[in-house]
Amino acid sequence: MKKLLSQSQAVFSPFSLENEDLYRRWCDIKLKDYPENLGDLLVEINDPRQLKESELDALKRLCRKTNMALYASNTGTDPDPNIPLSMGQRFGLDALNKNWLADDNGLTSLTVRNAGPRQHYIPYTNRAINWHTDGYYNTAEKQIHSLNLHVVQRAASGGENALMDHEIAYILLREKNPDYIEALMAPNVLTIPARVEDGKIARHEETGPVFSITPTGDLHMRYTIRVNNVIWTDDPLTKEALSYLEDILNGDSPYIYRGLLDSGMGLVSNNVLHDRAAFTDGAEHKRHYYRARYFDRLAGTYVLN
Ligand SMILES: [Fe+2]
Repeated sequence: MKKLLSQSQAVFSPFSLENEDLYRRWCDIKLKDYPENLGDLLVEINDPRQLKESELDALKRLCRKTNMALYASNTGTDPDPNIPLSMGQRFGLDALNKNWLADDNGLTSLTVRNAGPRQHYIPYTNRAINWHTDGYYNTAEKQIHSLNLHVVQRAASGGENALMDHEIAYILLREKNPDYIEALMAPNVLTIPARVEDGKIARHEETGPVFSITPTGDLHMRYTIRVNNVIWTDDPLTKEALSYLEDILNGDSPYIYRGLLDSGMGLVSNNVLHDRAAFTDGAEHKRHYYRARYFDRLAGTYVLN
């Protein structure tokens, strides 16, 4: 299991504030020819279960640039779970985060549920989900480093996703004020209170940073824009940093990709920032997304090679 290192331990990373030269060099390359719209992230493929080497290479190239790629496959509304599972395996991913609401195969089927425990959680409703990265309430050892989605069926209307590379969020914050990064790297900056059900603790309180650096020198982001059940450290710099980040996410930044994914399409990502618009299901179009969360980063998409 990957352990998160403090900023001073991970000396050789562009994300360390101590490495101004390395950061500058990396940033120039990162922003050069950065994709401007969702279509630039799309790779047409045949079947993820038999992904060709050239298709994988095209997806990886995009993920190295933007931490995400979209694919449009020819599998249509085929609900075979091996479609998203195969895609993950080709990116070296097998450590699925099987949460308590996941299917038996470790994937999560995101559909509207009107019965059972899932109906009480927003992902299983048709409501909007505001900006976040996945697993922000997980323990430090179980942070989510990659997140893949596969669309079996879209809704009759709505359900668009917005996406933003978390490394871009880091750059925008650091360029505005490097102290914002320091504030958001503080190990106690964000606390998610325990979840209590029937008087018992179902999930413990979790405290940790927003930005952290992994042993490979990569950036991890743990974030939610929600205001309920979230405790931020009460200091002016953190408030300023968060308010700047919220303005970016709620604004019309050219770095935010927005779009609607159709059947057979999917997202491969290093757990980038994302949201979901509210939607309405119809008889023909009952929204069904598979979600796969992993503890590892997509293979071959490390910042230092
Ligand atoms: Fe999510």
